[in-house]
Amino acid sequence: MNPIEHFKIWFLEQIENTGVKIPNACCLSTIGLDGFPNARFISLKEITNDGFIITGTLTSRKGNEIWHSNNVALTFWWAETDRQVRIQGEAAMVSEEVADNYFAERNRESQIVSIISQQGDEISVIEELVEKYNALDSESNGKYLKRPDNWGGYCISPVRIEFMEFNSSRLHDRKLYELVNNEWVLKQLQP
Ligand SMILES: Cc1cc2nc3c(=O)[nH]c(=O)nc-3n(C[C@H](O)[C@H](O)[C@H](O)COP(=O)(O)O)c2cc1C
Repeated sequence: MNPIEHFKIWFLEQIENTGVKIPNACCLSTIGLDGFPNARFISLKEITNDGFIITGTLTSRKGNEIWHSNNVALTFWWAETDRQVRIQGEAAMVSEEVADNYFAERNRESQIVSIISQQGDEISVIEELVEKYNALDSESNGKYLKRPDNWGGYCISPVRIEFMEFNSSRLHDRKLYELVNNEWVLKQLQP
């Protein structure tokens, strides 16, 4: 089976079994410019035939890191189904049009914050941002907000996906799919 299809089945089973607030949360790891791995939670937006879509500010720390190296990892831990998924892949920016669509789907508060905030930059007085927020909120008066140029998305095309399912015997099931010459090769790993 194609591992993206495998992922979709597990993800659906997890969504059906979980009551957590953000069931699509996962850990995105990038290669830090100082050599340290850098990890943070993000929300998986969509799964396409090409890969896993995430969105956010393109000029923040993660954006800069992906600009320098597009080799990234996504990691999921699903307590309700006792499963872990580890994905490694290459991130590529989605088109402007696709980014516009994802931006339009965001709630208004998030859109305003994405426009007025330079994510990750230091600020001396946070009230400055509150003023900017209120100003844009009232001047736009509920009207359409354009996606800022530094907001977009990435499609992470997987090269390796490991599915692990816990087993009460501790002989956990680990299946690793690796892309070799454009074909998925499946290996069973020891727990
Ligand atoms: C559950 C959860 C979901 C999040 N989803 C996103 C997201 O989809 N996109 C995003 O840019 N940041 C998201 N964040 C915030 C990131 O963890 C992070 O603070 C932000 O992207 C800045 O990271 P950076 O400085 O490495 O660029 C989320 C945080 C949490 C805890």
